Amino acid sequence: MARAYNFFAGPAVLPVPVLEQAQREMLDWENTGTSILETSHRSKEYDALHNEAIALLKELLQIPDNYKVLFLQGGASLQFAMAPMNLLTSDQTADYIHTGTWSKKAIAEAKLFGHVNVAFDGETVKRTRIPKPSELKLTPGARYVHLTSNNTIEGTQFHSFPDTRGVPIVSDMSSDFLWHPFDVRPFGLIYVGAQKNCGPAGVTLVVIRDDLLAQCREDLPTMLKYQTHAKENSLFNTCPCFAIYIVRNVLRYLKANGGLAAMETQNRRKAGLIYDTIDAHPGFFRAPVEKESRSVMNIVFRLPSEELEAKFVDEGKKRRMLGLKGHRSVGGIRISTYNACPLEAVEAVVGFMKEFAQANG
Ligand SMILES: Cc1ncc(COP(=O)(O)O)c(C=O)c1O
Repeated sequence: MARAYNFFAGPAVLPVPVLEQAQREMLDWENTGTSILETSHRSKEYDALHNEAIALLKELLQIPDNYKVLFLQGGASLQFAMAPMNLLTSDQTADYIHTGTWSKKAIAEAKLFGHVNVAFDGETVKRTRIPKPSELKLTPGARYVHLTSNNTIEGTQFHSFPDTRGVPIVSDMSSDFLWHPFDVRPFGLIYVGAQKNCGPAGVTLVVIRDDLLAQCREDLPTMLKYQTHAKENSLFNTCPCFAIYIVRNVLRYLKANGGLAAMETQNRRKAGLIYDTIDAHPGFFRAPVEKESRSVMNIVFRLPSEELEAKFVDEGKKRRMLGLKGHRSVGGIRISTYNACPLEAVEAVVGFMKEFAQANG
């Protein structure tokens, strides 16, 4: 059976060799006579895998030694609370750059723990773009500046990060982590629900700088403290072994396929093909996002009517193109082109877009 063209926003497409390896090893992993699903997280085989995943991530992103990589659970949604819970006290202020659905949720959680200054309110631009640096109203001495690097639903993305003058950036990178190489050093904390660009649902990747870790609040429940997980190398309790195994395999795949620089080239090419098609049919396709803020991962656009959008999604399905429907909160069409989405899938959807515009325009 041929694989479908998978454009889901998450959980999302994984590299075929990663899935094949999991299939091959399902009954007998590393000659243990058992599967990774059935193996103790305290075994030496698991320990090697766990540490390899951390080492690979550090290597691919050139993460300096003064950062810890953690594997947590609870999704990025738990991080909306866990980050301010650990980092912010009731007399401190954190700056939040509001650009979409997920930053709004992050702001709501942060307000439970301290002062939140909305440094940019994306509602004023209908969430159609990322702010320019001059538009940010940052608080001198803020505890941190929070941003969502890629807005999965709205289809906007930071293409450069603001200069926060030494204030650590805390970033939700759930939908664009590993899409390209970037300098980790301005970031105090990065959190990522793995299920878009890094692996399956069930594990949350956290990269935290040692100075922030040392300043985390201690009067918190054990499982909600970053320090607990950092001290125990994310093995305080049973970790999501299978999800981490897949993440490790994805990281191996990225390394074997040219690393993040190669991913960036491919991702730009794929997104470019789709945006060029949108721009070439201005009377039919409409991109709500301003050009400089367009996401390379989640490409959103509208058709002339909701009826045509529904028809596009239906006809796409018949061509085995999955996940074309925009998020239920905004409607329209969304095509997600994460690292593992092959160029061939993008060429197919672009061909379909052109045909559809011709037949229905
Ligand atoms: C940017 C971003 N942040 C947070 C979330 C929520 O992640 P989770 O479902 O892992 O809690 C999502 C999910 O789609 C997302 O795209």
